[in-house]
Amino acid sequence: MSIEYVDMPAERTDMGGYTLTEHASLATLNTLRVPARTNLLADIRDAAKLPELLDFPAVRQGRLLVLGEGSNVLFTSDFNGTVLLMSTRGVQVENDGDSARIAVAAGERWDDFVRWTLGQGFAGLENLILVPGTVGAAPIQNIGAYGCEVAEFVESVEAWDIHERRVVTLEHATCAFAYRDSVFKHEPGRYIVTAVRFVLPRSRPLCTDYAGIAEELRRMAVDTPAPFHVAEAVVRLRTRKLPDPAVIGNAGSFFKNPIVDAALAGALKLEHPELPAWPQTGGRSKISAAWMIEAAGFKGLREGDAGISNRHALVLVNHGNASGSQLWALAQKVMLGVHEKFGVQLKPEPVVIGAR
Ligand code: EPU
Repeated sequence: MSIEYVDMPAERTDMGGYTLTEHASLATLNTLRVPARTNLLADIRDAAKLPELLDFPAVRQGRLLVLGEGSNVLFTSDFNGTVLLMSTRGVQVENDGDSARIAVAAGERWDDFVRWTLGQGFAGLENLILVPGTVGAAPIQNIGAYGCEVAEFVESVEAWDIHERRVVTLEHATCAFAYRDSVFKHEPGRYIVTAVRFVLPRSRPLCTDYAGIAEELRRMAVDTPAPFHVAEAVVRLRTRKLPDPAVIGNAGSFFKNPIVDAALAGALKLEHPELPAWPQTGGRSKISAAWMIEAAGFKGLREGDAGISNRHALVLVNHGNASGSQLWALAQKVMLGVHEKFGVQLKPEPVVIGAR
């Protein structure tokens, strides 16, 4: 006789301002759509309730993972701890004039916020349209696309400091922003971002020099682009180049573009003159991970339901029922292959949970 195991329904309790669910499924809470569970899921709608929630012994003593839209995480195992789902909402505009300070709750969807800023006539975030994730996640990895990084517009970040047990405001300089990097990555587990304060101008020179944008604007027959034209061009480019997470599970770029020293960059350029490279400070170079992955023959590779997108080599995709560990195994194979061919160590952009 075979026994069929059925998942027990999870126990869910509304605590006023947040909801607790024991042994909760995370399958719909990560855009790679891998099955995983957490001991406790806390869905927070009111950031003021954070101290109360964090004081529960089970929460205080265990591990903590903050999730927004789950677009930058790979679960290779269940999470043995508490997952905090930031669902806070709200946008507050201060000092509206030639520019405005805009405070946004961490749980707002990034793309909704970008579209709202464009609708209100603000400039700056147009190149960052369609980036998946929440506003609270944006400064953590300093999201960037089409020649623009969010850091440029972040005045400060409000967070709950777990060490100091109080709300802190981290000014721009303290955030230590760099390529896909910030203080929040240097001190993982210390801060829970609760809100981000942006300064957005009403007008500024548009950033259209990133490969593809100017051509797309010409195709759209736009001579004097406004921010919403640039946004439309980026939407067209992204929809063509990147797989849609609503259609196929993915977490955007899975690999960061490595920054290498001048000697290695020079040697690589000699051997592979077509390798795209962008100069950085101190003679270093940021080199294209996608190009190396494609040149190593991994673009479009599929093993079971784990794959590398055939549209963009940086994107790890779940064709259906891949587990997190199958996806991670494929990612490691790609990293090894690129290292063997180019002597460059790729690093994952998302947080990989449970990887050994
Ligand atoms: N390329 C390949 N093969 C590919 C894709 C790209 O050889 O399959 C080459 C292109 O020919 C181009 C170069 O790689 O010369 C750069 O490609 P692309 O413009 O697509 O940018 P990327 O450096 O690969 C970064 C971001 C993306 C962002 C794009 C566009 C990282 C890790 N990724 O990718 O961000 O959309 O620029 O600005 O920096 C994300 O972070 O999730 C993300 C999608």
